[in-house]
Amino acid sequence: MKLAVVGGGSTYTPELIDGFARLRDTLPIEELVLVDPAADRLELVGGLARRIFAKQGHPGVIRTTSDVDAGVADADAVLLQLRVGGQAARNQDETWPLECGCVGQETTGAGGLAKALRTVPVVLDIAERVRRANPDAWIIDFTNPVGIVTRALLQAGHKAVGLCNVAIGFQRKFAKLLDVTPSQVHLDHVGLNHLTWELGVRLGGPEGENVLPRLLAEHGDAVAEDLRMPREIVDRLGVVPSYYLRYYYQHDAVVRELGTKPSRAAQVAEMERELLKMYGDPTLDEKPELLAKRGGAFYSEAAVDLAASLLGGGGSPYQVVNTYNNGTLPFLPDDAVIEVQAAVDGKGARPLPVPSLDPLYAGLIANVTAYEDLALEAALRGGRDRVFKALLAHPLVGQIEYAEQLTDQLIAHNREHLAWA
Ligand code: G6P
Ligand code: MN
Repeated sequence: MKLAVVGGGSTYTPELIDGFARLRDTLPIEELVLVDPAADRLELVGGLARRIFAKQGHPGVIRTTSDVDAGVADADAVLLQLRVGGQAARNQDETWPLECGCVGQETTGAGGLAKALRTVPVVLDIAERVRRANPDAWIIDFTNPVGIVTRALLQAGHKAVGLCNVAIGFQRKFAKLLDVTPSQVHLDHVGLNHLTWELGVRLGGPEGENVLPRLLAEHGDAVAEDLRMPREIVDRLGVVPSYYLRYYYQHDAVVRELGTKPSRAAQVAEMERELLKMYGDPTLDEKPELLAKRGGAFYSEAAVDLAASLLGGGGSPYQVVNTYNNGTLPFLPDDAVIEVQAAVDGKGARPLPVPSLDPLYAGLIANVTAYEDLALEAALRGGRDRVFKALLAHPLVGQIEYAEQLTDQLIAHNREHLAWA
């Protein structure tokens, strides 16, 4: 089995490698290719990756290349984890929306739109190369914004599934609080990428007992603290929103808070400098502790699980993924991309049925889906007016004055990445 990781020079990669090494029985990789345009990073990350495999006795071969076509040739699955423009572009996404009093975030609001516009054309180009090299290869997309990028891939007819670590993070956290193994915890996870709610927490599988009321009664403080939301609101909702809902439910408070501290991109850039220095140390042969300060906890385990199932192996039968709605949420178009539990096997991912949703959640999901639709149009076809309409449709923008200003800012800050601007 051969896997390729595009964006393999990411400082996150040792997390993935550690997961591949620990879970080698689930996903027996013979060859792993890290693909990245940054040759210097590839050398540092590739070196550590090989040492992690060697230490853990993994027999797989790790290669590095900056040539996408060479890297993806013969791959059975290709993981996409790239960041167009790096942390510098992310820093912009997190900063200029604040000037209009709007949230500055890499996947939510105007910053998320900027990221989608930079990213979709690059990902589609890579996906075409993957398809040319091997039409049967699966594409697993971690590249944000995952909902919009996955929809772009599926619309272009690619064999793609979108993945995020929010659900597996909740699964691991709840398992610990309930003192059960993670595989016993089944989440009724519903929504769009970075716009989800855990409506139930079941033991044993989709038909298992819903222990969410007990979980909140016994551990409500721990759950709310993690989300940085008041416990009272979690109790009143009776469901667990993801921490990305903070950007909606507490928008103005978050904007004030973001104005008082360095951007997340600046913090991450600093961590990346330290991490890369560590990766260059030839005696380091495991993922460093510092990596745990990044947001990607457990993403390697989610990736191994998904790749194992898609490649016909022993992954979990149900997994939270991003895929076509196909009637699952009846108030959305079939070709909207949703993030829900799905049955996953060698044929792909098919969402499990979802009970009828409270308007409190359905309304926001429908609104953000409309925004994502317009955002993808803007990413594929370009033009100031399409950017403006996507921003006007976004529930966190929504006013002509802000949409006009943010459109100008978005284009001004991203001109080098936008072929049409
Ligand atoms: C979570 C999200 C990812 C996002 C990451 C950011 O894991 O699910 O989509 O990329 O956080 O983490 P960072 O450490 O870069 O802020
Ligand atoms: Mn995510």
